[in-house]
Amino acid sequence: MQIHPNLANIAKVLVGLFFVYLLIAIFSAKNAMPDAYVELRDVMSYAVLAVEMGGHAVKKIHEEQGLNIEEKGQTDVGKAELLTTADLVSNHLMLGLLERFPGLTAITEEKAEDLPDKDVERYREDNYALWLEFHKILETLPSAKYPLHRINVWVDPLDATQEYTEGLTQYVTTMACVTIDGKAVFGAIYRPFDNETVLGLVDWGVYSTRSGKIDYSDFPPAPKKVMVSRSHAGKVKEFVKEALSDEYEIIPAGGAGYKILNLINNTAEFYVHTTAIKKWDLCAADAIIRAAGGAMIDLEGSPISYWSTSDPISRNGLLTARKGVYQAFNKLKPFLKPTGKQ
Ligand SMILES: *[C@@H]1O[C@H](CO)[C@@H](O)[C@H](O)[C@H]1NC(C)=O
Ligand SMILES: *[C@@H]1O[C@H](CO)[C@@H](O)[C@H](O)[C@H]1NC(C)=O
Repeated sequence: MQIHPNLANIAKVLVGLFFVYLLIAIFSAKNAMPDAYVELRDVMSYAVLAVEMGGHAVKKIHEEQGLNIEEKGQTDVGKAELLTTADLVSNHLMLGLLERFPGLTAITEEKAEDLPDKDVERYREDNYALWLEFHKILETLPSAKYPLHRINVWVDPLDATQEYTEGLTQYVTTMACVTIDGKAVFGAIYRPFDNETVLGLVDWGVYSTRSGKIDYSDFPPAPKKVMVSRSHAGKVKEFVKEALSDEYEIIPAGGAGYKILNLINNTAEFYVHTTAIKKWDLCAADAIIRAAGGAMIDLEGSPISYWSTSDPISRNGLLTARKGVYQAFNKLKPFLKPTGKQ
């Protein structure tokens, strides 16, 4: 068949091209366009849903296997099983909720395996019922649209794992954090065994399902207490007493989430950590402490970067408080051993 370049043929080609153009336009409008931008409030809502959904599973699994643990005489095998199940189920549920935003990068600890849906299904709750519990407060959060690539979510499906297996459940939290351009802006921390969610949005403030929006203007100065990790309390104690003041009481506690909540409700003044710490343990705490007007820095004085491509471990320790972080840092500085490069 030969095509003659007459008017009729040119018209056919033009009509054909026009349809191709329409198809492309429709296709990209349906798929690419809406996914390229997200409403920050939607991502924050799903982060809150995620910590509650994951946290409820963590609690339920502890209840189911708690008896088991006692009978097995707290064997290491029993503890490991409990931890693995709770961690994997919570992780699966939390990440599953965030898949609501195709193309959103969620960062969590790499797991050895992912559970099949059927093993997780009985821990899944109804999104809508959960959402009803806190939609009123979420609707009051300021929001804006952002291109997806500027947003990341950091997820900690179970913080204070050691304590969880030891039955020290007051320390246990589930956490999620929304970052924009590598900065933590929104954090949600859920305490499954106390049914309290605390959320903080930078430049907006902090809200607790227990006590409502927190008004810091009438808080008295924080008591001279420093939260430190249970595992290396001794070392930090020497360091803090020498560098800050003898007056400080050291409070060893499990979980970064739990420790930051004690600064948020004015139970302690500082949280100090002198070794490496994983960023999914920190991100929500970072957003919430800054939402409360505070700061979080490492022991070189730098804020922590949460770009999805950055090292997921913060290697230079941690100092955070609602007030006086930089003054404290200047006192601690002369006592810090240089880390590596001089
Ligand atoms: C947990 O707290 C929420 C309010 O934040 C409440 O609606 C819910 O009923 C509580 N759940 C339990 C099991 O107490
Ligand atoms: C402060 O927060 C911690 C951690 O959530 C909690 O254990 C403690 O009971 C709270 N204290 C007050 C006075 O609310």
